[in-house]
Amino acid sequence: MVSVIIPAAGKGTRMKAGINKAFLELAGKPMLFRTVMRFAGIEGVGEIVVAVGADEVAFIRWSLSKIPGLPAVKVVAGGSERQMSVANALKAVSEDADTILVHDAARPLVTKSVIESVIAEAQKSGAAIAAVKAKNTIKRVSADGVVEDTPDRSTLWEVQTPQGFSRGVIMEAYLRAMQDGFVGTDDASLVERMGHPVRVVEGTYRNIKVTSPEDILMAEAMLRDEAIGKAKDGIETLMVKLAEKAITLRQKVEKEMRK
Ligand code: CTP
Ligand code: MG
Repeated sequence: MVSVIIPAAGKGTRMKAGINKAFLELAGKPMLFRTVMRFAGIEGVGEIVVAVGADEVAFIRWSLSKIPGLPAVKVVAGGSERQMSVANALKAVSEDADTILVHDAARPLVTKSVIESVIAEAQKSGAAIAAVKAKNTIKRVSADGVVEDTPDRSTLWEVQTPQGFSRGVIMEAYLRAMQDGFVGTDDASLVERMGHPVRVVEGTYRNIKVTSPEDILMAEAMLRDEAIGKAKDGIETLMVKLAEKAITLRQKVEKEMRK
Protein backbone atom coordinates (compact mmCIF):
# COMPACT_ATOMS: atom_id res chain seq x y z
CA MET A 1 0.00 0.00 0.00
CA VAL A 2 1.12 3.56 -0.75
CA SER A 3 0.88 6.23 1.93
CA VAL A 4 0.97 9.88 0.77
CA ILE A 5 2.35 12.53 3.12
CA ILE A 6 1.22 16.09 2.39
CA PRO A 7 3.15 18.75 4.32
CA ALA A 8 0.86 21.78 4.67
CA ALA A 9 2.11 23.28 7.92
CA GLY A 10 4.00 26.24 6.47
CA LYS A 11 3.36 29.90 7.13
CA GLY A 12 3.29 31.04 3.50
CA THR A 13 5.54 33.99 4.31
CA ARG A 14 6.42 34.71 0.66
CA MET A 15 2.73 34.70 -0.31
CA LYS A 16 2.14 37.63 2.05
CA ALA A 17 -1.53 36.67 2.51
CA GLY A 18 -1.36 36.70 6.31
CA ILE A 19 -2.57 33.07 6.48
CA ASN A 20 -1.19 29.62 5.68
CA LYS A 21 -1.26 29.71 1.85
CA ALA A 22 -2.55 26.10 1.75
CA PHE A 23 -5.95 27.49 2.82
CA LEU A 24 -6.08 30.15 0.09
CA GLU A 25 -8.72 29.52 -2.56
CA LEU A 26 -7.63 28.67 -6.09
CA ALA A 27 -10.43 28.95 -8.63
CA GLY A 28 -13.03 28.50 -5.89
CA LYS A 29 -11.50 25.70 -3.82
CA PRO A 30 -8.85 25.78 -1.07
CA MET A 31 -5.40 24.83 -2.37
CA LEU A 32 -4.99 22.01 0.20
CA PHE A 33 -8.29 20.41 -0.91
CA ARG A 34 -7.27 20.59 -4.55
CA THR A 35 -3.91 18.94 -3.78
CA VAL A 36 -5.43 16.19 -1.62
CA MET A 37 -8.05 15.46 -4.30
CA ARG A 38 -5.30 14.74 -6.84
CA PHE A 39 -4.61 11.52 -4.91
CA ALA A 40 -8.22 10.26 -4.98
CA GLY A 41 -8.65 7.19 -7.14
CA ILE A 42 -4.93 6.53 -7.71
CA GLU A 43 -4.30 2.80 -7.69
CA GLY A 44 -2.43 1.59 -4.62
CA VAL A 45 -2.88 4.78 -2.57
CA GLY A 46 -4.47 3.65 0.68
CA GLU A 47 -3.80 6.57 2.97
CA ILE A 48 -3.11 10.31 3.02
CA VAL A 49 -1.32 11.91 5.99
CA VAL A 50 -1.64 15.70 6.08
CA ALA A 51 0.55 17.83 8.36
CA VAL A 52 -0.88 21.24 9.32
CA GLY A 53 -0.26 23.72 12.14
CA ALA A 54 -1.08 22.34 15.62
CA ASP A 55 -4.03 24.75 15.98
CA GLU A 56 -5.39 23.79 12.54
CA VAL A 57 -5.51 19.99 13.06
CA ALA A 58 -9.10 19.63 14.35
CA PHE A 59 -10.68 21.89 11.74
CA ILE A 60 -8.77 20.36 8.81
CA ARG A 61 -9.53 16.81 10.01
CA TRP A 62 -13.25 17.69 10.03
CA SER A 63 -13.09 19.53 6.65
CA LEU A 64 -11.24 16.72 4.87
CA SER A 65 -13.69 14.14 6.25
CA LYS A 66 -16.41 15.89 4.19
CA ILE A 67 -14.64 15.21 0.85
CA PRO A 68 -16.06 12.11 -0.82
CA GLY A 69 -13.89 9.56 -2.64
CA LEU A 70 -10.69 9.99 -0.62
CA PRO A 71 -8.68 7.11 0.89
CA ALA A 72 -8.26 7.13 4.69
CA VAL A 73 -7.06 10.59 5.80
CA LYS A 74 -4.97 11.29 8.90
CA VAL A 75 -4.21 14.83 10.04
CA VAL A 76 -1.19 15.50 12.28
CA ALA A 77 0.56 18.57 13.66
CA GLY A 78 3.55 19.74 11.62
CA GLY A 79 6.77 21.27 12.90
CA SER A 80 8.83 24.43 12.57
CA GLU A 81 10.60 23.24 9.37
CA ARG A 82 9.14 21.29 6.46
CA GLN A 83 11.45 18.40 7.41
CA MET A 84 9.94 18.33 10.92
CA SER A 85 6.43 18.30 9.45
CA VAL A 86 7.30 15.31 7.25
CA ALA A 87 9.02 13.59 10.22
CA ASN A 88 5.83 13.97 12.31
CA ALA A 89 3.71 12.62 9.46
CA LEU A 90 6.07 9.63 9.06
CA LYS A 91 5.25 8.63 12.66
CA ALA A 92 1.56 8.39 11.71
CA VAL A 93 2.07 6.29 8.56
CA SER A 94 0.24 2.95 8.66
CA GLU A 95 2.19 -0.30 9.25
CA ASP A 96 0.76 -1.55 5.94
CA ALA A 97 2.51 1.10 3.83
CA ASP A 98 5.48 -0.27 1.86
CA THR A 99 5.85 2.85 -0.29
CA ILE A 100 5.74 6.44 0.98
CA LEU A 101 5.20 9.50 -1.20
CA VAL A 102 5.76 13.08 -0.05
CA HIS A 103 3.94 15.83 -1.94
CA ASP A 104 3.78 19.56 -1.10
CA ALA A 105 0.32 20.98 -0.39
CA ALA A 106 1.59 23.93 -2.43
CA ARG A 107 1.62 21.88 -5.67
CA PRO A 108 -2.06 21.52 -6.57
CA LEU A 109 -1.39 20.99 -10.28
CA VAL A 110 0.33 17.62 -10.10
CA THR A 111 -1.04 15.10 -12.62
CA LYS A 112 -2.19 11.52 -12.17
CA SER A 113 0.41 10.38 -14.67
CA VAL A 114 3.35 11.94 -12.76
CA ILE A 115 2.05 10.53 -9.45
CA GLU A 116 1.79 7.06 -10.99
CA SER A 117 5.28 7.26 -12.54
CA VAL A 118 6.86 8.30 -9.23
CA ILE A 119 5.06 5.45 -7.40
CA ALA A 120 6.20 2.92 -10.03
CA GLU A 121 9.84 4.09 -9.96
CA ALA A 122 9.91 4.27 -6.13
CA GLN A 123 8.64 0.69 -5.99
CA LYS A 124 11.27 -0.40 -8.49
CA SER A 125 14.36 1.40 -7.21
CA GLY A 126 13.52 2.64 -3.70
CA ALA A 127 13.77 6.39 -4.35
CA ALA A 128 12.27 8.53 -7.12
CA ILE A 129 11.60 12.24 -7.60
CA ALA A 130 9.64 14.27 -10.15
CA ALA A 131 11.76 16.94 -11.86
CA VAL A 132 11.89 19.04 -15.02
CA LYS A 133 14.88 20.14 -17.08
CA ALA A 134 16.05 23.64 -16.11
CA LYS A 135 14.85 26.16 -18.72
CA ASN A 136 17.04 29.01 -17.49
CA THR A 137 20.79 29.26 -17.29
CA ILE A 138 21.69 28.96 -13.61
CA LYS A 139 24.78 30.52 -12.06
CA ARG A 140 26.48 30.02 -8.75
CA VAL A 141 26.86 33.44 -7.13
CA SER A 142 28.93 34.41 -4.07
CA ALA A 143 27.36 36.12 -1.05
CA ASP A 144 28.72 39.48 -2.28
CA GLY A 145 27.01 39.13 -5.67
CA VAL A 146 29.82 37.95 -7.95
CA VAL A 147 29.33 35.08 -10.39
CA GLU A 148 31.47 32.11 -9.45
CA ASP A 149 30.60 29.68 -12.22
CA THR A 150 27.95 28.53 -14.70
CA PRO A 151 27.10 24.84 -14.35
CA ASP A 152 26.29 23.09 -17.65
CA ARG A 153 22.53 23.54 -18.03
CA SER A 154 22.01 20.15 -19.64
CA THR A 155 22.88 18.54 -16.29
CA LEU A 156 20.53 20.74 -14.24
CA TRP A 157 17.00 19.73 -13.23
CA GLU A 158 14.44 21.60 -11.18
CA VAL A 159 13.19 19.28 -8.52
CA GLN A 160 9.52 19.01 -7.59
CA THR A 161 7.34 16.71 -5.59
CA PRO A 162 6.01 14.00 -5.46
CA GLN A 163 9.09 12.26 -4.15
CA GLY A 164 8.58 8.58 -3.45
CA PHE A 165 10.55 6.05 -1.41
CA SER A 166 10.34 2.54 -0.13
CA ARG A 167 9.40 2.58 3.55
CA GLY A 168 12.82 1.40 4.76
CA VAL A 169 14.72 3.99 2.72
CA ILE A 170 12.79 7.07 3.89
CA MET A 171 12.53 5.92 7.52
CA GLU A 172 16.27 5.37 7.74
CA ALA A 173 17.08 8.62 5.91
CA TYR A 174 14.92 10.65 8.32
CA LEU A 175 16.33 8.88 11.38
CA ARG A 176 19.92 9.56 10.25
CA ALA A 177 19.20 13.20 9.35
CA MET A 178 17.71 13.76 12.82
CA GLN A 179 20.71 12.08 14.50
CA ASP A 180 23.16 14.17 12.47
CA GLY A 181 21.21 17.43 12.74
CA PHE A 182 21.03 17.61 8.93
CA VAL A 183 18.28 19.76 7.44
CA GLY A 184 17.67 19.45 3.71
CA THR A 185 15.40 21.42 1.39
CA ASP A 186 13.79 18.28 -0.02
CA ASP A 187 13.26 14.68 1.08
CA ALA A 188 15.57 13.16 -1.52
CA SER A 189 18.60 15.05 -0.16
CA LEU A 190 18.25 13.04 3.06
CA VAL A 191 18.35 9.84 1.02
CA GLU A 192 21.25 11.01 -1.19
CA ARG A 193 23.50 11.53 1.83
CA MET A 194 23.08 7.84 2.72
CA GLY A 195 24.53 6.98 -0.68
CA HIS A 196 21.25 5.55 -1.97
CA PRO A 197 20.64 6.39 -5.66
CA VAL A 198 17.64 8.61 -6.37
CA ARG A 199 16.03 8.25 -9.80
CA VAL A 200 14.52 11.18 -11.68
CA VAL A 201 11.08 10.89 -13.27
CA GLU A 202 10.19 13.57 -15.83
CA GLY A 203 7.51 15.83 -14.33
CA THR A 204 5.50 18.63 -15.96
CA TYR A 205 6.19 22.38 -16.06
CA ARG A 206 2.62 22.90 -14.83
CA ASN A 207 3.43 21.33 -11.45
CA ILE A 208 4.51 24.68 -9.96
CA LYS A 209 4.96 25.33 -6.26
CA VAL A 210 2.50 28.10 -5.46
CA THR A 211 4.86 30.37 -3.53
CA SER A 212 4.36 34.09 -4.28
CA PRO A 213 1.23 36.05 -5.34
CA GLU A 214 1.87 35.80 -9.10
CA ASP A 215 1.86 31.99 -8.80
CA ILE A 216 -1.84 32.21 -7.86
CA LEU A 217 -2.57 33.83 -11.24
CA MET A 218 -0.66 31.10 -13.07
CA ALA A 219 -2.19 28.28 -11.05
CA GLU A 220 -5.74 29.59 -11.62
CA ALA A 221 -5.11 30.00 -15.36
CA MET A 222 -3.87 26.40 -15.57
CA LEU A 223 -6.79 25.07 -13.46
CA ARG A 224 -9.26 26.83 -15.79
CA ASP A 225 -7.46 25.39 -18.80
CA GLU A 226 -7.75 21.90 -17.28
CA ALA A 227 -11.48 22.45 -16.64
CA ILE A 228 -12.02 23.58 -20.27
CA GLY A 229 -10.13 20.50 -21.50
CA LYS A 230 -12.32 18.23 -19.35
CA ALA A 231 -15.51 19.96 -20.56
CA LYS A 232 -14.39 19.53 -24.20
CA ASP A 233 -13.69 15.83 -23.60
CA GLY A 234 -17.14 15.51 -22.00
CA ILE A 235 -18.84 17.14 -25.00
CA GLU A 236 -16.90 14.92 -27.42
CA THR A 237 -17.93 11.76 -25.52
CA LEU A 238 -21.54 12.95 -25.59
CA MET A 239 -21.37 13.63 -29.36
CA VAL A 240 -19.97 10.15 -30.00
CA LYS A 241 -22.77 8.59 -27.91
CA LEU A 242 -25.40 10.62 -29.78
CA ALA A 243 -23.95 9.61 -33.15
CA GLU A 244 -24.00 5.95 -32.08
CA LYS A 245 -27.65 6.26 -31.02
CA ALA A 246 -28.55 7.92 -34.35
CA ILE A 247 -26.91 5.06 -36.29
CA THR A 248 -28.74 2.39 -34.24
CA LEU A 249 -32.03 4.23 -34.76
CA ARG A 250 -31.45 4.49 -38.49
CA GLN A 251 -30.63 0.76 -38.71
CA LYS A 252 -33.89 -0.03 -36.87
CA VAL A 253 -35.93 2.17 -39.20
CA GLU A 254 -34.30 0.62 -42.29
CA LYS A 255 -35.02 -2.88 -40.95
CA GLU A 256 -38.68 -1.97 -40.35
CA MET A 257 -38.96 -0.53 -43.87
CA ARG A 258 -37.56 -3.71 -45.44
CA LYS A 259 -40.29 -5.81 -43.75
N1 CTP B 1 5.65 23.12 5.11
C1 CTP B 1 5.34 22.37 6.25
N2 CTP B 1 5.89 22.71 7.45
C2 CTP B 1 6.73 23.75 7.55
C3 CTP B 1 7.08 24.50 6.40
C4 CTP B 1 6.52 24.16 5.18
O1 CTP B 1 4.56 21.42 6.17
N3 CTP B 1 7.22 24.04 8.75
C5 CTP B 1 5.00 22.78 3.82
C6 CTP B 1 4.23 23.94 3.22
O2 CTP B 1 2.94 24.03 3.80
C7 CTP B 1 4.22 23.64 1.75
C8 CTP B 1 5.50 22.81 1.55
O3 CTP B 1 5.96 22.45 2.85
O4 CTP B 1 3.12 22.86 1.34
C9 CTP B 1 6.56 23.58 0.78
O5 CTP B 1 6.99 24.71 1.53
P1 CTP B 1 6.92 26.22 1.06
O6 CTP B 1 6.46 26.32 -0.34
O7 CTP B 1 8.19 26.87 1.47
O8 CTP B 1 5.68 26.79 1.95
P2 CTP B 1 5.74 27.76 3.19
O9 CTP B 1 6.85 27.38 4.08
O10 CTP B 1 4.37 27.80 3.76
O11 CTP B 1 6.03 29.18 2.49
P3 CTP B 1 7.18 30.25 2.89
O12 CTP B 1 8.49 29.51 2.79
O13 CTP B 1 7.02 31.34 1.89
O14 CTP B 1 6.85 30.69 4.30
MG1 MG C 1 8.94 27.48 3.39
